[in-house]
Amino acid sequence: MATFGTLRKTLNIDFGKLLESQLVTAVTVRTSHRRRGLLRRMMSENLAMAKQDGLAMAALTACEGSIYGRFGHGVASFERAVKVDTTSRFQLNYHAAGNVDIADPRVLLDLVPEVILDVAQALEARHYPEDGRLVLDVQDLLGLTAGTFAVEVSGGEAGVVCLEETAGAELTLDVSALSSIYLGAVCPVTLTSAGRIREHKQGASLRARRMFAVERATHCLTHF
Ligand SMILES: CC(C)(COP(=O)(O)OP(=O)(O)OC[C@H]1O[C@@H](n2cnc3c(N)ncnc32)[C@H](O)[C@@H]1OP(=O)(O)O)[C@@H](O)C(=O)NCCC(=O)NCCS
Repeated sequence: MATFGTLRKTLNIDFGKLLESQLVTAVTVRTSHRRRGLLRRMMSENLAMAKQDGLAMAALTACEGSIYGRFGHGVASFERAVKVDTTSRFQLNYHAAGNVDIADPRVLLDLVPEVILDVAQALEARHYPEDGRLVLDVQDLLGLTAGTFAVEVSGGEAGVVCLEETAGAELTLDVSALSSIYLGAVCPVTLTSAGRIREHKQGASLRARRMFAVERATHCLTHF
C-alpha cells in the first residue's frame, strides 16, 4: 500500500567537500490509503533513523515541493527544462565543449528539497568563504535538531556551539530555511524579506549571505 526507498550517498556541499547523506526516493501511497498519515510516519521514522546513524543531511526529489516543508525540507536545487527548436533557423555560434549553460530558464519543473538532520554537524562540515560569527535560533517541527547555535567561522571552518538560551539569537529560522541557504539555493536576505527568517539584529541576514555564499550552486544530475 506504500513504497519508500532510501540510499546512502555523498552530497556535494561545495568547495570540494562531500557529505554522506540519506537520499529518499520512490515515495508513494496507494490512492485508497492516502491522507491517513502513512507518509508522515515513514518520513519521520526514516529521518530519525538516519540521524541516529550519524547522518547530518537528507534529500529527495519532489514534484510537489509544498509537501515536504513540514518535514523540515528546504529547496536546495531547481530543475529546469528548455526546448530548443533545432530546425532550419537553428545554428550554433560556438561548438560547445564542457558544460552547457541554459540562458532562458523559463520552465520550472521540479526541485530537490534537502533537510539538515544535525545542525552542528552539518554546519561544521561545510566551508565558508567569509569568517564571522552568527547566532541562529533553529526551529524544527520534527524535533530532531532544534536549538540555538553560535556559529564561529575562522579560516573558513566553523565551530558550532549549542547555547542554552535563545536570548542572543540574531536570526530565527526553521530548519527548512537553513537547509535552503546551506547549499546556496536561496539567499538569506530573500528569506528574511519573505518572512521565513526573523532578523533580530540588523544586518545579520546579509552577514549570513556572505558567510554561506557558495562557489557553485548545487545541481542534481539524477532523479535518484
Ligand atoms: C504524496 C503522498 C506520498 C502523500 O502520502 P499520504 O500518506 O497521503 O500523506 P500523509 O497522510 O502522511 O500526509 C502528510 C502530510 O502531507 C500533507 N499532504 C499529503 N498529500 C498532499 C498533497 N498532495 N499536497 C499537499 N499536502 C499533502 C497532508 O496534509 C499531511 O499534512 P499534516 O501532517 O501537516 O497535516 C501520496 O499522496 C502519493 O503517493 N502521491 C502520488 C505520488 C507522489 O506524488 N509522490 C511524491 C513525489 S514528490
